Amino acid sequence: MPVSALSGPVFPGNFLWGTATASYQVEGAAAVDGRTPSIWDTFAHTPGLVTNGDTGDVACDHYHRLEEDLDILAELGVGAYRFSISWSRVLPGGGSQLNQRGVDFYSALVDGLRARGIAPVATLYHWDLPQELEDAGGWPHRDTAERFAEYAGRMGEVFGDRVHTWITLNEPWCSAYLGYGSGVHAPARTEPAAALAAVHHLNLGHGLAVRALRASIDPAARVSVTLNLHHVRGESPGDAEAVRRIDALANRAFLGPMLDGAYPRDLIDDTAAVTDWSFVRDGDEAAAHAPLDLLGVNYYNPVLVRQWDGVSPRSTADGHADGAASPWIGVTDVEFVTQPGPYTQMGWNIDETGLTELLLRLHRDYPGLPMMITENGAAFDDVLDDDGRVRDPRRVDYLHRHLTAVAEAIDGGADVRGYFVWSLMDNFEWAHGYGKTFGIVHVDRQTMRRTWKESAHWYRRVVAANALPAAR
Ligand code: FCB
Repeated sequence: MPVSALSGPVFPGNFLWGTATASYQVEGAAAVDGRTPSIWDTFAHTPGLVTNGDTGDVACDHYHRLEEDLDILAELGVGAYRFSISWSRVLPGGGSQLNQRGVDFYSALVDGLRARGIAPVATLYHWDLPQELEDAGGWPHRDTAERFAEYAGRMGEVFGDRVHTWITLNEPWCSAYLGYGSGVHAPARTEPAAALAAVHHLNLGHGLAVRALRASIDPAARVSVTLNLHHVRGESPGDAEAVRRIDALANRAFLGPMLDGAYPRDLIDDTAAVTDWSFVRDGDEAAAHAPLDLLGVNYYNPVLVRQWDGVSPRSTADGHADGAASPWIGVTDVEFVTQPGPYTQMGWNIDETGLTELLLRLHRDYPGLPMMITENGAAFDDVLDDDGRVRDPRRVDYLHRHLTAVAEAIDGGADVRGYFVWSLMDNFEWAHGYGKTFGIVHVDRQTMRRTWKESAHWYRRVVAANALPAAR
């Protein structure tokens, strides 16, 4: 990677810089213009499930402040913006009747981005399943995959001429294991077998959606999926079996069907006591295996595991262990080891070396499949100072470290096409509510006023230079 006297690594010429958000986390307007509830509305309105009783009813009121937010993106100078479409806003009740007012909102977003020279990157599913589809069984139920493909096809018809990068699912790991396994995400079910059925129907839904999209979008458009692949390390060489177990559930449960056309044998064997996987029908794995143009990678921190000795209290410090039930279906003999700091506000350790290693592994395993970092960022306890500034040097440091890690992976041969900061602005951080702030733009919860943090100014300079400063 070239380095100039004034700068750190310079990124490839066509590198796509962006920021990311998701519908329920920023839009608000939950009951406006025909939108019906999703599983996250239900979850957030269930007492005790979200910190402080926060909900996404108003969120960042992005729905009503679209122009202002578009202008912020333009000022940042980013080439792309990753947003998600709220399924129940465009197809209320998860039905088949398009809601024109919902479509109009996303049209305004897409057109507003394009008018500012910013490429829209649309995620179809960032966890907000229409409640009616959950009532009918949700992701453990096969029909949800078919409905998802129909919805994808409809979105392709409406936006296919204007949106040229599509992402089917965001982090199906979370949808399946946190939604149906540990229950810390919507729909708050703790049913191990259902979680694995959800894994499968998410994989199937993805494949069917890719095909439905391709039938309606511009032939040159790129189709992708975003996975929160876990970079799993063993504490010692003797922990290889623990690493394999977690890698199977976390990563290969999705990479296998989506990119190789089959579930890994060891995953099926490891989970035999929970399910016989009979929900996988002939032809399903081939259906999930739809050619992709890009792989979206979300990265926050690595995972450290060891084999449990069966005697000492078992540690479950995996960063998502806030529920009584485990998201690690069928795993009873692996411990998650607390990693050395520093930590973010989420308690996640900061270690960018996992990102380089993960990207190089993916490059080795799937050569020829370009990648994009569709989320990376950090929550910190930011303060809006009296002088109107938000000084967030730890976020700048985090972003600098992780972009350096991306540059190293590119140097090592990984084909990484872009990077999206999570997140454009402080927003509804799921079960944590508004207390965990990931934005490079601060949002005042009372006035909704947007204030650029120092990290936003820093990111603007990085985007403009297509390069990192030499020092943090
Ligand atoms: C990811 C989610 C995103 C955000 C970040 C912090 O798992 O995709 O919506 O909550 O974590």
